Amino acid sequence: MILIVGGAGYIGSHINKTLAKSGYKTLVYDNLIYGHREAVKWGEFVLGDAGDIDQLRLVFSKYKIRAVMHFAAFAYVGESVTDPEKYYINNVSNAATLLKVMREYNVKNFIFSSTCATYGIPQTDILYEDHPQNPINPYGYTKLVIENMLKDYGNAYGLKYVALRYFNASGADPDCEIGERHDPETHLIPLVLDAAIGKNKNVKIFGTDYPTPDGTCIRDYIHVNDLADAHMLSLEHLLEGGESQIFNLGNGNGFSVREVIKSAEKVTGKKILAIEDKRRAGDPPKLVGSSDKIKKTLGWSPKYANIDDIIKTAWEWHKKLNASK
Ligand code: UFG
Repeated sequence: MILIVGGAGYIGSHINKTLAKSGYKTLVYDNLIYGHREAVKWGEFVLGDAGDIDQLRLVFSKYKIRAVMHFAAFAYVGESVTDPEKYYINNVSNAATLLKVMREYNVKNFIFSSTCATYGIPQTDILYEDHPQNPINPYGYTKLVIENMLKDYGNAYGLKYVALRYFNASGADPDCEIGERHDPETHLIPLVLDAAIGKNKNVKIFGTDYPTPDGTCIRDYIHVNDLADAHMLSLEHLLEGGESQIFNLGNGNGFSVREVIKSAEKVTGKKILAIEDKRRAGDPPKLVGSSDKIKKTLGWSPKYANIDDIIKTAWEWHKKLNASK
């Protein structure tokens, strides 16, 4: 059984589907604060919080857990600046509880959702895994704390882990069974699509004076199913006795906010009204990563290299989601 903590959320639900379709037995454990029960369409489900030690112990004693994947972190960069306690309690303290229970039940394999936000302001054009980690927001710090914990627990207790530093997860299941649904929504692509579908009148561009060619922030968008494939390869690596690893997970291509809006106009065939606004706190100008390491080590290769193709899957899901409301 693979335990997917936070498997009712955007990324966790796509990984649950990928694992289930590949024959793994999965158990989703989620407190449904941000997750959606109806996104758990595969495997078993237990309602619970990552910080609830008693509920976790019940799960670990009832099921034979071979590995744990952890998606139950809070991930609003801006909110982490205004309410850091929420982030340190959930992302650090609750993750420590989960690791404690894993240790009690001698479960050694852990896959962790880390982030490119641990790098802070890039000192190089393309980020490699050995780039210094100096986060510029509490969200990034909480993820870095866990990366350090994993290293220490690995040395002291024999924990085996893969930490995946995601760049910008985006897109949706091409079968449209699941997709991105945050409340509140803060991510660029769904907000651009809200403007395209007429749910919002416009989309705001946060900052047009960054040191980038068009003045807007550049990000490396990676399709959520490519993330899911990387998780499955990481799981297999650990189950086969592979060493602990840290990998970037991005496409290696950067797109500016304006380029994302342009691509969405092309994909949706709609004119999108973009309003220039001030910078959002905690945003580095450019985050683009190399994923050569995971390609070489695990043979991962992303299937969606093109931003239009990523946005197409997000748009199909977006139309379905808004039609059912
Ligand atoms: N942006 C806008 N307008 C909006 C929303 C976003 O201009 O309405 C801009 C942001 O300022 C940023 C870019 O679009 O420059 C992407 O923003 P997102 O909020 O979509 O994504 P982030 O890059 O801020 O954050 C995402 C994840 C985090 C992760 C981070 C790593 O949400 O969990 O990538 O950079 F840590």
